Amino acid sequence: MRTPRTSRRISRAARLRTAAAVSALALALAACGQDSEGGSEEKKDSAEGGTIGIAMPTKSSERWIADGENIVKEFEAAGYETDLQFGEDKVENQVAQIDNMITKGVDALVVAAIDNTSLTEVLADAKEADIPVIAYDRLILQTENVDYYASFDNERVGKLQGQYIVDALKLEEDKGEKFDIELFAGSPDDNNTRYFFNGAMSVLQPYLDSGQLTVRSGQTKLNQVTTLRWDGAAAQKRMDDLLSGNYGGEDVDAVLSPYDGISIGVLSALKSAGYGSGGKELPVVTGQDAELASVKSIIAGEQTQTVYKDMRKLAKQAVQMTDAVLTGGKPEVNDTETYDNGVKVVPSFLLDPVSIDRTNTDLLVEEGFYQAGDLK
Ligand code: GAL
Repeated sequence: MRTPRTSRRISRAARLRTAAAVSALALALAACGQDSEGGSEEKKDSAEGGTIGIAMPTKSSERWIADGENIVKEFEAAGYETDLQFGEDKVENQVAQIDNMITKGVDALVVAAIDNTSLTEVLADAKEADIPVIAYDRLILQTENVDYYASFDNERVGKLQGQYIVDALKLEEDKGEKFDIELFAGSPDDNNTRYFFNGAMSVLQPYLDSGQLTVRSGQTKLNQVTTLRWDGAAAQKRMDDLLSGNYGGEDVDAVLSPYDGISIGVLSALKSAGYGSGGKELPVVTGQDAELASVKSIIAGEQTQTVYKDMRKLAKQAVQMTDAVLTGGKPEVNDTETYDNGVKVVPSFLLDPVSIDRTNTDLLVEEGFYQAGDLK
C-alpha cells in the first residue's frame, strides 16, 4: 500500500514550511538573545523533523556498519530523524526496505546499492512521491531518479593499488626480473568494481604487455576475475584453485585485491598453500577500506597494502547534499562528468583515497579513524 502521491507531497511541503517557520522563529528569538528553547545557542537552519531513509548493503563488513552509524550521527546533528536499514546483501531485501521507507513517507533517501541496476522500479516510486535520492559510495545505474552521488575517486583507488604493486616489485627499474601476478575484482553488480579494476589495470597493463608481469592463470578480463558480493570465502576458494591449477613449481609474487575482505580470503588460501612460512614469502597483496583485521594484518607483515577512505567524511558529504536538496541550498559537487549511470551524468562529490602500508598506519590513529589500542 502506497501513500497517495499528493498527500506525501503536501506532507513534505508542510514539513518544510514548518521548518521555515521554526527557523524564522529561531532567528527572531536569536535577535532577542535566546533560542526557541530558551537557551542561547543558535538553531541549525535545516528541515527540522524530517526523516531520512538510509539503505546500507550489509552488516557483514565493518565499513558499512560504521557508514550507517556515521550517517545517522550526521543527520541527527543536522536535526533529522533517520530510518537505517541493512539489506544483508540480498537485493530483494533492499528493494523491500526502500519501498517501505517510501510508504512511510521519508523526506529523502540515501542508498548504497547492493545491485546497481535493481532499483529502477522502486526509485520510480520515490520520484512519484517527490523523494530525492542520494547514491552513497556506489552509483545507482539505469535510472534518472538519482539526484546526487557522494563517493571517493574510485578510479584513483584502483590506481593506488596498481601503483603499489609496481613500486613494491620495482617494475619501473626494469632489472630484467619477471613476476607472476593474479587479479581479483569486486562484485560484478557494483558500479565501483570496474572503476577500481580499470584504474589498477591502467597502471599494470604496460607491464603485462612488456612481459615483466605474467598472469599464469590467463584470467585477465574483468568478467573472469570478479567476486560476487565481495565475498571473502569465494575469493579464498578462487585463490585455492588458482594456486593448485597454476603454481605447482612457481610462486605468485603479487595479488591485486580490490577490497580487504577479499584480501583476507586470498591470504588464507596463500597460507594454506604454505606461503608466509618456511622461507616461502607471501606475495604483495593489496586491499581497500582499512578494515581493522586488514590493518592488523598489515602491521603483522601479511597483507601488504590497503586504501584508506575516511567514511566519516563521506557521511558528512552525503548529509550536506541531502540537507541542501531539502532546504533549497546548494549541494556541493566537484565532478559533473565522470559518473554516467546510463541515463544521465550524476553530479558527484568525490573524496580522496589514501594508500596505507606498514610505513603509515599511524595516519589512521592520527586522524582518529582508529585508537592506538585498536591496532595492538
Ligand atoms: C565497494 C566500496 C568499497 C568496499 C566494497 C565492499 O562498493 O566502494 O570500499 O567497501 O564495496 O564492501
